[in-house]
Amino acid sequence: MEKTLAFTHRYEPSARAGAPTLLLLHGTGGNEDDLLPLGRMIAPGAALLSPRGKVLENGMPRFFRRLAEGVFDEDDVRRRADELADFISAARERHGLPQPIAVGYSNGANIAAAMLLLRPEALAGAVLLRPMMPLGDAPVTRLAATPVLVLSGSMDPIASVESTARLVSALGTAGAAVVHRELPAGHELSQADITAARTWLAAAAQRVAEAVS
Ligand code: MLT
Repeated sequence: MEKTLAFTHRYEPSARAGAPTLLLLHGTGGNEDDLLPLGRMIAPGAALLSPRGKVLENGMPRFFRRLAEGVFDEDDVRRRADELADFISAARERHGLPQPIAVGYSNGANIAAAMLLLRPEALAGAVLLRPMMPLGDAPVTRLAATPVLVLSGSMDPIASVESTARLVSALGTAGAAVVHRELPAGHELSQADITAARTWLAAAAQRVAEAVS
């Protein structure tokens, strides 16, 4: 029996042979439409799978609950990371997709980071735009050289340098191949993010394709 896809989402099939599959994860207050233009820009022809976060904070969709700005409900982080990983698996089955590379911004980057640490089989890699460490203690995980690009902003008032550094360290300890670049930016994305993500994705998508062939 076909599994139901438990998130409101958009799906765009690949328009180019060899293009990667991207899982697009929006920030707080966003939706499934938000990152489609970014996905098309940083990986032309890629298959795009873009769910909407199910948690509502004052009407704003998110991927997990928070207790205050930067203070996360960790039980909810774990539960929602599981739920999203299960959605990915059902969507892969439905559309015949390989493991996706997540592209997450802010809250979307944080749930992608949680999935890397808690459900490492869900993702082939990740571009984390302005992420924070979503868990107090990093679980013991094995990320066999999973490619991860972290783009932080040196003037970001939300994702602190310290929290991003803890995440980069946890991912590295788990075995991910992490590239971390700090850009002269705040929490908002800049043209430098697009250029860096596009360049990194072209190389990472090729490595991912070689690893599965
Ligand atoms: C979060 O709540 O995940 C982070 O604080 C980023 C945000 O969504 O504002």
